[in-house]
Amino acid sequence: MLISQLTLLFLSQDSCSRVSPVWKSVRAPPLFWKHHARLAALLPPATPKASLLSGLHSHLILKAQSIDLMKLKNHKNHHTDLYQDNICVLRRSQTFQMWITLSRPFNRHTDKLHLHLKTGPIPEVGKRTHVIVPLVEELKGNCWEAAVVKENDKRIKLSVNSPGTAVIGRYRLTVETTCPNGLAIYTCNPSDDIYMLFNPWSKDDSVFLDDEEERQEYVLNDVGRIYNGRVNQIGARTWNYGQFDSGILATCLYILEKSKTLCSGWGDPVNVVRIVSAMVNSNDDAGVLVGKWSGDYTGGTCPTFWNGSVEILQQYYASKGSPVKYGQCWVFGGVTTTVLRCLGIPTRTVTNFNSAHDTDVSLTIDVYVDENMDTITNKNQDSIWNFHVWNDCWMARPDLPPGNGGWQAVDATPQETSNGIYCCGPAPLTAIRNGQVYLKYDCPFVFAEVNSDRILWQRNADGTYSKIFTEKKVVGCNISTKAVGSDERNDITHMYKYAEGSEEERVAVETACSYGSKPDTYESPTAKDVTMKVVMEGEGPKLGSDAELIVKFINHSCENRNVSLNSQLAVMYYTGVHKATFQKEKRDLDLLPNKVKLALTYDKYKDLLVDQGALMLTLLGRVKETQQVLATQFGFLLRTPDLIIKPIGKPVVGQKMTVEISFINPLPEELKDVVLNVEGIGLLPVQKITYGDIRSNGRVTITKDFTPTLAGAKKFVASLHCSQLTQVHGVADIYVEA
Ligand SMILES: *[C@@H]1O[C@H](CO)[C@@H](O)[C@H](O)[C@H]1NC(C)=O
Ligand SMILES: *[C@@H]1O[C@H](CO)[C@@H](O)[C@H](O)[C@H]1NC(C)=O
Ligand SMILES: *[C@@H]1O[C@H](CO)[C@@H](O)[C@H](O)[C@H]1NC(C)=O
Ligand SMILES: *[C@@H]1O[C@H](CO)[C@@H](O)[C@H](O)[C@H]1NC(C)=O
Repeated sequence: MLISQLTLLFLSQDSCSRVSPVWKSVRAPPLFWKHHARLAALLPPATPKASLLSGLHSHLILKAQSIDLMKLKNHKNHHTDLYQDNICVLRRSQTFQMWITLSRPFNRHTDKLHLHLKTGPIPEVGKRTHVIVPLVEELKGNCWEAAVVKENDKRIKLSVNSPGTAVIGRYRLTVETTCPNGLAIYTCNPSDDIYMLFNPWSKDDSVFLDDEEERQEYVLNDVGRIYNGRVNQIGARTWNYGQFDSGILATCLYILEKSKTLCSGWGDPVNVVRIVSAMVNSNDDAGVLVGKWSGDYTGGTCPTFWNGSVEILQQYYASKGSPVKYGQCWVFGGVTTTVLRCLGIPTRTVTNFNSAHDTDVSLTIDVYVDENMDTITNKNQDSIWNFHVWNDCWMARPDLPPGNGGWQAVDATPQETSNGIYCCGPAPLTAIRNGQVYLKYDCPFVFAEVNSDRILWQRNADGTYSKIFTEKKVVGCNISTKAVGSDERNDITHMYKYAEGSEEERVAVETACSYGSKPDTYESPTAKDVTMKVVMEGEGPKLGSDAELIVKFINHSCENRNVSLNSQLAVMYYTGVHKATFQKEKRDLDLLPNKVKLALTYDKYKDLLVDQGALMLTLLGRVKETQQVLATQFGFLLRTPDLIIKPIGKPVVGQKMTVEISFINPLPEELKDVVLNVEGIGLLPVQKITYGDIRSNGRVTITKDFTPTLAGAKKFVASLHCSQLTQVHGVADIYVEA
């Protein structure tokens, strides 16, 4: 013990020229000099003391001499082996490894080594663009940390973790070793930088997508199909996305840099998608593509001539950011898919037929005619395109109410400005479907593209206009994207809107319009005298059993009120991403029983459950007599079962007693690697009980013996942990006699 302390002191004195403050503050134990003398006496007489010290010198300094980023192995694990350039591409929130060759074997107890990762022009620790990765004993996950997992003479192998929120981009890595007194610092850089990307394979990343086939399609497929033509004459062309081609990743990061946004914001996919939607068009920021629709494409490439995104991005990069001529919607959409897939955000190219372009945020397509039914040319700004192409990308939306995670529409074609810039989205498909156009970003515009009514307005003698005709079904149909794993067309219209003509669809249109620039387009309800509320009894429904939700209506009028009500129940991820709708009901209610019970049957949702058992109830209805719209969403959690704790025997200080902890697995699946933590002040210290697996719906009882150490009212607390189930707790009051 003392000898090793001695070594340490030699090291601090010898490897750096000055005696450090650390050295001074270490009080030499009284026996120190005696032992020192004894050590000197042990040395062979021929070795003079000075030469021993200088011999130690070269051994003692710890320097990293080379770093092997193990690209082959890391790339395979990180699904980045397709990137063509010989660069190190990793995904955040996933362990990667490296071998470091040192000047001498590593000493876990005394040596100091850590990693620095820096990105962007001015790396700052506070902005997470300069990360100092500490060396830890045991990796915890979802944070920056590194651990030595193997030692081989002078080489050590590190496992490194990063959080699911890490800034993406190009990082310069430095391995830093410090001599124990902290005065001398040695650094070493690998020949490669690290490109850190989003990670749809990791639950801790908000672009997490839980289906392998979908990840293969929406992240890794580099060829796709883009639909065009017109309703009932749908055409398609193959598009080469080429997101892994040589130089494309560098171009994507160049595009982000050119946006002049701070790279500290590049950890958030909402931001990144918005930046990309602004940068793919050249308007206002010298982005990638110049849009042109005039038919005269001299001086550039005709938009229909492009076969894919690679030539466009290469041309942009080679010309140091001079915008490429020319693009139209499918070119903007194709390039956006390339850039986002390249950065690791699941993305697809989407075509909408009869796509409306609403210029005045009325959320209707307005056609103006004069007294003779002739169109008034200068007043007709809105248009309906045969087709329009944009993108859907997948992410959680922690910035919005739950239920809005999942697919988000993003449109890079320059059409209308958003906060002064030509960009559009991300707009949640759920919000568009429900007409909740007040949610970020640009829902009114996307809503109008897919679900606006075409309204014919006729000029009156006094110059005002009257609505004379409404077409409800013209806009937004056959919304198409390439199917997962095949070249078939997948119709996703239902994700953007309820069935044409259904009550829900009408409610959505009117809700959306009421937030637009002409809120009076639709007849306002004659009265708004009914209120609707969802109530949950007690602590809410329990995971694993049937339950009921109650919808309460209050009739504030003095007349009879009937309601038609549509309800939908969906399973959600804890991130707010919608997983699947499992129950849809439509009912006509006369209000007299002013409470409606919605049954929540465990059998119907048990196979869909994920994470923490989060569910969402969406209600859309209308009062028949007044046309009042009733709409609400209600998110709730299924309560996890408690641990039942039963003390056995009489609790007395110093006498052994037992508790019985019982638990029923509520899930239809086996719980893996279950661990219990138990503790109680005065009863027993914190302890970990490794239980193993619990079969589906299985009941287990665990007994724990301990000897109370303190008298009085005590609490025995237990919690159960496993990857499928969290938040399972139990507590028992135990009165311990002296
Ligand atoms: C697209 O492919 C065709 C056929 O291979 C080729 O002739 C054309 O030059 C390509 N377009 C561009 C812009 O390279
Ligand atoms: C396209 O949409 C129209 C209008 O909704 C519908 O009648 C038609 O069946 C759709 N065509 C296809 C191929 O889905
Ligand atoms: C609503 O109130 C009116 C007047 O009190 C009553 O006639 C009608 O039955 C009420 N409807 C319901 C559902 O309570
Ligand atoms: C409202 O409900 C009552 C009772 O069921 C029924 O007689 C009446 O026709 C309904 N009115 C409407 C407008 O549906």
